[in-house]
Amino acid sequence: MNTDINRLRDLIRYHERKYYIDDQPEIPDAEFDALMRQLEELEKTSPEDIPSDSPTQRVGGGVALGSRIPHRSPMLSLDNAFGKEEILDFGVRVKKLLEDAPVEYVTELKIDGLGVSLLYENGVFVRGLTRGDGEYGEDVTGNLRTIRAVPLRLTETDDNPVPPILEVRGEVFIPKHLLGEINVQREAASESPFANPRNAAAGSVRTLDSTITAKRPLDIFIYSLNYTEGLEIATHTEALEKLKCYGFKCNPHTELHESLEDVISFYEHWVTKREAIPYEVDGLVVKVNNINQQKELGSTAKSPRWATSYKFPAHQTTTTIKNIEVQVGRTGVLTPIAILEPVKLAGATITHATLHNEQEIHNKDVRIGDTVVLERAGDVIPKIIDVQKEKRKGDEDVFQFPDLCPSCNTPVQRSENEVAVRCVNAGCSAQLKRRIAHFASRKALEIEGLGPATVNQLVNNGLVGDVADLYTLKSQEVRKLDRMGDGLTHNLLHQIEHSKQASAAKVLVGLSIFHVGETVAELLIDRFLSIEGLSQADAETIEAIPGIGPQIAESVSSFFAQNRPLIEKLKAAGLRCFTEEVVQAPKILKETFFSGKTFVVTGSLTDMTRTEASTEIKARGGKVTSSVTGKTDYLIAGDGAGSKYDKAVELEVPILTPEDFLEHLGKS
Ligand code: IVH
Repeated sequence: MNTDINRLRDLIRYHERKYYIDDQPEIPDAEFDALMRQLEELEKTSPEDIPSDSPTQRVGGGVALGSRIPHRSPMLSLDNAFGKEEILDFGVRVKKLLEDAPVEYVTELKIDGLGVSLLYENGVFVRGLTRGDGEYGEDVTGNLRTIRAVPLRLTETDDNPVPPILEVRGEVFIPKHLLGEINVQREAASESPFANPRNAAAGSVRTLDSTITAKRPLDIFIYSLNYTEGLEIATHTEALEKLKCYGFKCNPHTELHESLEDVISFYEHWVTKREAIPYEVDGLVVKVNNINQQKELGSTAKSPRWATSYKFPAHQTTTTIKNIEVQVGRTGVLTPIAILEPVKLAGATITHATLHNEQEIHNKDVRIGDTVVLERAGDVIPKIIDVQKEKRKGDEDVFQFPDLCPSCNTPVQRSENEVAVRCVNAGCSAQLKRRIAHFASRKALEIEGLGPATVNQLVNNGLVGDVADLYTLKSQEVRKLDRMGDGLTHNLLHQIEHSKQASAAKVLVGLSIFHVGETVAELLIDRFLSIEGLSQADAETIEAIPGIGPQIAESVSSFFAQNRPLIEKLKAAGLRCFTEEVVQAPKILKETFFSGKTFVVTGSLTDMTRTEASTEIKARGGKVTSSVTGKTDYLIAGDGAGSKYDKAVELEVPILTPEDFLEHLGKS
């Protein structure tokens, strides 16, 4: 009996491997499903004997998202080479350190996903960690088990015994074409879409619920054998061959090169072919093949000297601007949006691009009818990077930024110390709609079912004049709105009622105070414990919190000075954070990667401004200064980094990319 069940498990493992790893299924899906059912039936007879590596044990085994665990050796990142010259420079450095010994290079595709490490003991998958901050990873064993391309047990043969301990590293990813489907589902469930496949992979692996991971079409390529005992391996290519024999999925587009010239032609081939690959690839990884040479070259604090990424250029295309519209944000800021002739860019159809502010339109001299160059670097949000003035025919229109708010016709306010143009009418309905939508969003009170269409109707029908009015809505009023049946009405009112339980920090985020996002809100509540406590504080007391600057302090104290009635209304509505007595003690700042270190931020970061980056660093106990010196621990260098970058290289100050930074923040 035991041998039967084990034979069946091995047979299923064999077919799993054929299907998920080799992409060469030998039996129809229905037959495979029948084998699985047969195994499930057999296992029911003695559930206590089911081993953790049984093919039935993918979902629900182990902790879904657990503790921080140190990596056996740091999971470093890679240096970036842009263009031929920089890759040749990499070769010069390698040759110099190896005293001109002959060097072979291996190139692999650089998959844009989530780096993970997998540990096998006696051939059985026992632990999976995310890269985390490089030193410590998050335990995601339970979630990684759900990925079919992660073998739960390795394949062993007489010629190829599996070592007792084996740690491999690889990249979890979601195929490009499936991201669209996931995002459609997310939007239908009022969740914000993933900006790119990398975020989608990270969001799916770093979740508390492994049944969510199991539903996502995740896949993995293993790119290195990081640790083992008792195996003699001379080259990286040999290691990859071994890994394939054990049953790991390695990327097939891996090549050995005798010279960097050869690497460059391989790169040029892939630049033109990258769109055809079904997963997002942001460049090549070039590695020295010989393991002894790798050891000789070693690593800096941040990255190995024996490998580099060789980045592909950002995706670009051209299109024309059909019109420019101005949107009013929840804090009254007017943002110009270019309405584009729809164009395909890196798999997505682009119809809009932000022009940021009035200044940007002037600086770039963007006109309606212009042909522009659009760029998408990794993320879905495209940027207009250039205006092709040579294509002008003379009938392009210079855009007049409005002097009146396009929603409420109040004269706009321009101020000397900021580029933003604002509508300062507290009763502006466009602002109100956005404030309510924000109040209901996932960052704030998470009122599912209160999407933009419902918000529009609530405001247009005069049912809601501020966020507190949501709590006095009557079901007969809601029921009268378009497309609002009994079920939807009941659900919406239930969700609104439920949102009264939200924490003080979430409610604070929901108030749409300038400069108060999630991080700042948490800092403020950590210090003052309640919104009521915070509302009594003056700007000076607020500014005394590490991580809070004068601008934020001023914005918070003037908000509460002007909005006392709104706070009273929320209190009267019975929001828990106002009614419950605060018993919690102030939080002690946790030790983080940033604690006690000094940072300089330069260039433009992908997802945040430099001020926001500084706030995040200070909130985690780090210091931010403006120039790179011997005392700087790290430079965070975004696009367009200039002299500070050169200085950091000169002083050997480690450099973090915006992506590294996000990882350290735990936001990637
Ligand atoms: S090798 C010491 N190979 O890129 C680092 N990394 O910036 C060795 N990545 O965190 C990494 N594809 O998650 C390597 N073929 C590949 C890769 C790859 C994607 C990721 C990896 C790493 C990041 C480095």
